[in-house]
Amino acid sequence: MKLPTHTAFLSREIRQTEEGFRFWESFLAKQNFKRLIELGTCPGFLSVYLYLYCIEKGKEFYTYDKQDCGSSPVKDLINFRKVFNQLDIKEYVYTIGGLIRAKGQTILFCDDGDKEWEINTFSEFLKSGDIILTHDWINEVNPLNIQEALIKYGLEDFDEDNDPSKTFIKVWMKK
Ligand SMILES: C[S@@+](CC[C@H](N)C(=O)[O-])C[C@H]1O[C@@H](n2cnc3c(N)ncnc32)[C@H](O)[C@@H]1O
Repeated sequence: MKLPTHTAFLSREIRQTEEGFRFWESFLAKQNFKRLIELGTCPGFLSVYLYLYCIEKGKEFYTYDKQDCGSSPVKDLINFRKVFNQLDIKEYVYTIGGLIRAKGQTILFCDDGDKEWEINTFSEFLKSGDIILTHDWINEVNPLNIQEALIKYGLEDFDEDNDPSKTFIKVWMKK
């Protein structure tokens, strides 16, 4: 049974709503980014879509998960293992932080197991003009628990065409 909170790409599960999946196409088209980082890969078909987008546009893509997300004909075809990093992000804060800090606009998508921790931890590394997004806005991420980081690191709402009540995604840009 397909959950209303899940959709599919290439008939493979994506743990986003339909609107949350479609959001990426319009959102990314408006950004002039250098790299896209996804925290939380598995099952890995949102990542396949995002990686294909980055290949097409000449951008860097990185995705992280502590589990192995398996292989598939398409994953093999695009050499998915080149961009998939199997590790516990809590043990690699400075590696990921260094990537966020690298020259050029970074887009960071927090979709791992502890999104409040991800926002509170990785916001420190964002540069002016970088974008941070979280999945599971409101149902997992309590605004009160990230309020201090939003103020401290100068993160402003950047939802533009995004409707968080449908995508469950929330977007901020660093001033
Ligand atoms: C909601 S799923 C990601 C869904 C995916 N982005 C999608 O849209 O289909 C969350 C993933 O975070 C991973 N995860 C949880 N804690 C983690 C950690 N500390 N380090 C790395 N991965 C973690 C889990 O293994 C799980 O696969």
